[in-house]
Amino acid sequence: MPEASASTPRQPGPEARSQAPVISIEGLQVGYGSYVLMRDVAFNVRRGDIFFITGGSGCGKSTLLRVLMGFKEPQKGSVRFFGQPFWPGTDQDRLAVRRRTGVLFQQGALWSSMTLAENIAVPLRQYTGLSERDIRRQATLKLSLAGLSGFEDYYPSEISGGMRKRAGLARALALDPDILFLDEPSAGLDPVSAKLLDDLIVELRNGLGTTFVIVSHELASIYAIATRIVFLDAQARTMAGLGSPKEMVRDPATKESAMMFLTRGQAGQAGMVDDPQSPEITGMVRIRQDQAASLGDKDSL
Ligand SMILES: Nc1ncnc2c1ncn2[C@@H]1O[C@H](COP(=O)(O)OP(=O)(O)O)[C@@H](O)[C@H]1O
Ligand SMILES: [Mg+2]
Repeated sequence: MPEASASTPRQPGPEARSQAPVISIEGLQVGYGSYVLMRDVAFNVRRGDIFFITGGSGCGKSTLLRVLMGFKEPQKGSVRFFGQPFWPGTDQDRLAVRRRTGVLFQQGALWSSMTLAENIAVPLRQYTGLSERDIRRQATLKLSLAGLSGFEDYYPSEISGGMRKRAGLARALALDPDILFLDEPSAGLDPVSAKLLDDLIVELRNGLGTTFVIVSHELASIYAIATRIVFLDAQARTMAGLGSPKEMVRDPATKESAMMFLTRGQAGQAGMVDDPQSPEITGMVRIRQDQAASLGDKDSL
């Protein structure tokens, strides 16, 4: 924030840059025209975070994600990536960041007329000078990272919904992004596939060091894999919680709207959940694990 002060150099050196948060957001306001969806949004995403943007339907999660992806300008405030300007910033600033990001949209959208390998080849052909042979190799590698070895020549219609999501993730990984944006990745997935997708996200973060920014209101995923969350309150039209979900649900200072969300209204009010291992929460996660066990691993074929 105090970037122009006399004691702070305008352009941080490489060392300072490497320590800068992956994303830093200050005083952000997003909306459409003169309509304000969210104001005073401020948070940092750190390297290796699995950061969830969460909140009720229609509160502006996807809109905020579009701002972070550079597709939509905020009404106010600033966004920086790796300490460098983004909003406000030039098209060039944003392009430089976008080259380092990948995205899996809500619909998952693979091209249905192309095989999985061909889908992954598209960004590689567009942005790299790789030979067709190396493109094929990369596609095979990315599919294997997503647990889809051997499915190179399948069409999207020939595989399950969970596998399609993972293929979309493989395509988002094509250019080895530092940051992956996911919008409602487990929407429409059965509990087994949702769990497999969660596991894959953690594996990719651990193995590749990818930072994840995920829009989702799936509590089971939030408790299972989120390092930190921001809770957007649709009514107050601002953020009403930031931090580790497991700590927030234990903290009597957590705002009521965030607590209601984190307990799905079961505890009613902030302060009533004093046991982080409360049956409501662990039960919910456990049910999904049990379902996963009883249904078997059909989606990981
Ligand atoms: N292009 C648009 N123009 C005007 N309003 C929009 C546009 N896109 C979304 N909205 C509205 O903004 C609100 C937030 O949308 P969105 O960010 O998609 O919410 P969420 O992802 O949290 O469900 C919704 O009420 C939606 O109708
Ligand atoms: Mg949305």
